[in-house]
Amino acid sequence: FGTIGIIGAMQEEIELLLAQMENKQKEAHAGIAYYRGVFHGKKVVLTRSGVGKVNAAVCTQILIDKFGADAILFTGVAGAVDPGLNIGDIVISSSSLQHDVDVTALGFPRGTIPYQDVSEYKADERLIALAVEAGKAVHSGCCKVGKVLSGDQFIADRATVKTLYEQFAGACTEMEGASVAQVCFMNDIPHVIIRSMSDKADGSAHANFAEFTVEASNRSYAIVEEIVKSL
Ligand code: ADE
Repeated sequence: FGTIGIIGAMQEEIELLLAQMENKQKEAHAGIAYYRGVFHGKKVVLTRSGVGKVNAAVCTQILIDKFGADAILFTGVAGAVDPGLNIGDIVISSSSLQHDVDVTALGFPRGTIPYQDVSEYKADERLIALAVEAGKAVHSGCCKVGKVLSGDQFIADRATVKTLYEQFAGACTEMEGASVAQVCFMNDIPHVIIRSMSDKADGSAHANFAEFTVEASNRSYAIVEEIVKSL
């Protein structure tokens, strides 16, 4: 790839990578901070999108249009949806969808965007494979390839997380991935989402999120670093 775009929503999620990048140059577009630089000899643009689907979508389109990103990696934390996942475990996106899209009143299944062929966006096979290899190399815990569920909601309730698992068979839930994936799909740019679990999206989620976000962010970073090295 010519330029790899790397997105994290929050400062914690980009912190280590920002510290490791060389030849950093900062610029802002639409109120979002972008850092051009070099990471393991590769040309990268790192950005902190801000939280939520709209921020992440705008950020991704700018990465493509203004910075010429031809591959996008998302790094960060998520709430586990699959009951087999624990805090610290990694999810590599096979695909992602927006769980909060709800046009069921008009007969569309939940998560389906009306009058559009695709509402669930597949991650790039090569990037998934590299992420799996990276997981074997740098992560001792569970590293699962699975579906990422995105919505403009912090899920912190057992009943909701159970419904998300039953309705979508999701691996984890967060607030940006599927919007990044949709923009990548619309622009025919390969992507993959890497998330480490900061919580289980249940009644303890707010406390766990506060306690484990830095650690989980750094675990996700470690995978992304290996991917960039292998590109
Ligand atoms: N990011 C990390 N944990 C999350 C949760 N429980 N819901 C939504 N986004 C998250």
